[in-house]
Amino acid sequence: MSVPRGRRPRPASAPAAVLPGPFPSQAWSLSFMCSAGGAPYSEPMTKKQSVTGGKAAYGDGIADVFDAWYGVESSDECLTTLRKLAGDGPVLELGVGTGRVAVPLAASGLQVTGIDASPEMIEQLRAKPGSERITVVQGDLADADVGDEEARFSLITCVDNTLFLLESQEEQVRCFRNVARRLTPGGLFVIEVPARVPRMDEDEHGVFVESVSADRVGLWIVDHNRAEQRMFMQQVSFENGSVRLLPVPVRYAWPAELDLMAQMAGLRLRERWSDWDRTPFSSTSVVNISVYEKPGGGDD
Ligand SMILES: C[S@@+](CC[C@H](N)C(=O)[O-])C[C@H]1O[C@@H](n2cnc3c(N)ncnc32)[C@H](O)[C@@H]1O
Repeated sequence: MSVPRGRRPRPASAPAAVLPGPFPSQAWSLSFMCSAGGAPYSEPMTKKQSVTGGKAAYGDGIADVFDAWYGVESSDECLTTLRKLAGDGPVLELGVGTGRVAVPLAASGLQVTGIDASPEMIEQLRAKPGSERITVVQGDLADADVGDEEARFSLITCVDNTLFLLESQEEQVRCFRNVARRLTPGGLFVIEVPARVPRMDEDEHGVFVESVSADRVGLWIVDHNRAEQRMFMQQVSFENGSVRLLPVPVRYAWPAELDLMAQMAGLRLRERWSDWDRTPFSSTSVVNISVYEKPGGGDD
């Protein structure tokens, strides 16, 4: 993941917008600066990616520290932009987690539903004041199933790098298709994912030093399988005499591939930014915030 706010310094090279996500932004942008230097990784990663706990594994593994590490609220820019895109709602957040985004969105008067696979994350969300306003469904975000076949949303979000936690292209395509089904005509699907991928010249394994302080050392240990566009990452935290492992398998995709998935689902790209201030996306962007639209709204 990234740098726990308030407990560890942010690396100067990491834009704040990248920090909350489930990836070490520096590993993506600096090409595994501490690469182990041995033979390129060559084994298939399938076995390593069989993390016990299935879809809930990531959330269950990090739930107790997620808010301490990533903050309890999203940025003002993120919330302002999402509120504007939502119109009158309702809103569906895929991978709602502890409600970092959903709680303030609901507090602003929007009707919000969240899906998450992790009971532990949902428990953290439910402990928060204001969470009673949110309808929470435990399930796979790729299904976008809220238990009501008729439910439709003006805005569906999958922020904080969560889309890439779906570990295959098939699952990501399925997610786009189910999202498209759940949107109202003219409704929007907003994703926030890393825009940079690791070095593409070889498969790699590497160690990235996330942070060093008097009471904690955080490392990311990463295997990259470029043929499958997959990374298996272990976030290793040495703290107060304990060692904590957080396995994070991801499948990344280029903006063009994401656009194609959207197109296959009947959505079209409306805007792409590199941050929540809506800075236009460029070839140097580190973050990809894409807004896809379901045709049929008033502007068609
Ligand atoms: C990086 S956290 C983001 C949480 C929240 N969106 C935020 O911005 O703070 C990713 C969340 O997605 C959930 N998640 C991961 N894979 C999932 C899946 N296949 N189905 C449902 N939830 C999933 C995790 O449990 C976790 O709560």
